[in-house]
Amino acid sequence: MNRIYLSPPNMGQYEQKYVQEVFDSNWIAPLGPQVDAFEREMCDYIGVNHAAALSSGTAALHLALRILGIKENDVVFCSSLTFAASASPILYEKAVPVFIDSDRETWNMCPIALERALSEYKKRNHLPKVVIVVNLYGQSADYDRILEICYCYHVPVIEDAAESLGASYKNRKSGNFGVMSVLSFNGNKIITTSGGGMLLSNNEDFIKKARFLATQARDNALHYEHSQLGFNYRLSNVLAAIGRGQLQVLDDRVRAKREVFQRYYDVLSPIEGIEFMPEAAYGISNRWLTVMTIDSEKTSIDRTQLIEILEKYNIESRPVWKPMHLQPLYRNYDYYTATPGISISDELFNNGICLPSGSDLSVTDRDRIISIIKKALKNV
Ligand SMILES: Cc1ncc(COP(=O)(O)O)c(C=O)c1O
Repeated sequence: MNRIYLSPPNMGQYEQKYVQEVFDSNWIAPLGPQVDAFEREMCDYIGVNHAAALSSGTAALHLALRILGIKENDVVFCSSLTFAASASPILYEKAVPVFIDSDRETWNMCPIALERALSEYKKRNHLPKVVIVVNLYGQSADYDRILEICYCYHVPVIEDAAESLGASYKNRKSGNFGVMSVLSFNGNKIITTSGGGMLLSNNEDFIKKARFLATQARDNALHYEHSQLGFNYRLSNVLAAIGRGQLQVLDDRVRAKREVFQRYYDVLSPIEGIEFMPEAAYGISNRWLTVMTIDSEKTSIDRTQLIEILEKYNIESRPVWKPMHLQPLYRNYDYYTATPGISISDELFNNGICLPSGSDLSVTDRDRIISIIKKALKNV
């Protein structure tokens, strides 16, 4: 049986045309017209003025921190329930991460927990220099509430929209919030360039700075002159060509992923003990991954057992992200919940499972996965 992956790449019919243009023009080197066009087209899609295409989402986050001048011992708040890359750049800069819990309604950063942390850090006279807000599994965080709170404390927000391209919040596209936002085109994302990312902002200076830092921070001189530390973080022209083709099918991919979710939901949500990641009324999720929780007291099977059963059928699934505050790397950093002692992200991690959610998942495979899960939940 062929392996069914969690979220494999799904190429459309336009990518090869753009890649052929690259080969025809021999513009294989980094940067070039495909990169410029990809940036412009992404800006138009999202409704942001400026963008820099980069080698990864992690690089985009790293540059965002650099541009905001984050330095050693600065405090940076970050969603706890996320992939490690949301937080790694904080340590690249030797800054101090503080993690914020999720709320139950959206699984994203809890505004109450955020407010608690901000007021505490204000008392300590050590307010964060920035808050990194993650849009988990394709659903936007509640930006009206989060931005209002951060505004009161004069703290900027970076939107980590790596998982939520194509989603929206109050009719504005994901990637439109905060002082800068970050996208990822990693192989498992809703659209991919095999690897890549983008930094977006309405502040032109930020994006100019990002381009400068991402191309080794070369000063304006005929010879190679450097007064700042730079990086090699730009996206190649070849990969941007793939990205342009993928962008054209993004809305189809969102539709397909939402359909995958809906089918799982229709069949499995009536089972006692199964809950799906809710969709907040304020937006439309891209349902990058379909995620559900299993209450093992009601189903008599836990998420780990279900992952193992699916694996026997060569089907990939995985636990919800292990929250950052539980990671050995981050054990000694602060973590804030809305109610002391009650951590929503712990619960979601302990019980949550991500199901195969490919935008090209066939109806046959999808229905086979569903019937295996149904049987597993009822039999064990
Ligand atoms: C929430 C989140 N942030 C950041 C990243 C980093 O993106 P990249 O893999 O392109 O570096 C990812 C995914 O990989 C992610 O899921």
